[in-house]
Amino acid sequence: MKGIVLAGGRATRLRPLTKITSKQLLPVYNKPMIYYPIETLIKSGIKDILIIIAPDYAGHFLNLLGSGKELGAKFSYEVQDEPRGLADAFRVGENFIGDDNVTMILGDNIFDFNFAQSIQSFTKGAKIFAKEVQDPNRFGVVEFDANHKAISIEEKPKQAKSNYAVTGIYIYDNGVVDIAKNIKPSDRGEIEITDVNNEYLTRGELSVDIIDGIWEDAGTFDSLLRANNYWAEKSKAASS
Ligand code: TTP
Repeated sequence: MKGIVLAGGRATRLRPLTKITSKQLLPVYNKPMIYYPIETLIKSGIKDILIIIAPDYAGHFLNLLGSGKELGAKFSYEVQDEPRGLADAFRVGENFIGDDNVTMILGDNIFDFNFAQSIQSFTKGAKIFAKEVQDPNRFGVVEFDANHKAISIEEKPKQAKSNYAVTGIYIYDNGVVDIAKNIKPSDRGEIEITDVNNEYLTRGELSVDIIDGIWEDAGTFDSLLRANNYWAEKSKAASS
């Protein structure tokens, strides 16, 4: 199992903070944001990690993270020239993925949850994680049937069919590379991860686990503040 941290994008919602640096380098309590998704992968047993970055501030990521040795991992880097969408990670990362399975995590998604069991027991298909939220319209939304089986996933729907948002960590078998290559851009011009998930759903190979751990998509001022406060409290509680 290989790992990808997707840390490019435009970060328009965090301007002007992101006029002078990348979103994923902003502080979340006592370290840069990208440490959290990297540590989520490492704690799950993934050591071979590709970090996908935008051209701007690419050197800052190298300065910060280097080879990965300090964190007990091996980092590779690819530049995504344009933010073509989340599923573009599997095109940009094709050579890195090779013949392996891959877990992708978004560089601004912060979890306090252990995915080790899910990742280590994964063999085939796709596994994604949903969490109940107040504002599902910001995310991919999963609809479940009476037996808790996922029956649809809609990207940022106006009328959400449930309160279950798809979180920013995704486990795929090697078939994801071909699936991503065949996806056409959506109306907003992006190669959507929701289309990848729907392809696995259609094939009957998608499993959706509901998680109850902490999750923040730290891409807005309010969610960034919540993430800072959560980790400040947790860190103080641990040291008292
Ligand atoms: P988003 O938060 O959806 O997009 P963004 O970071 O560009 O922010 P905004 O909407 O405020 O302009 O992206 C989620 C994560 O995925 C984030 O870590 C950036 C990353 N990303 C890429 O690396 N490449 C892409 O093409 C896109 C769309 C996002």
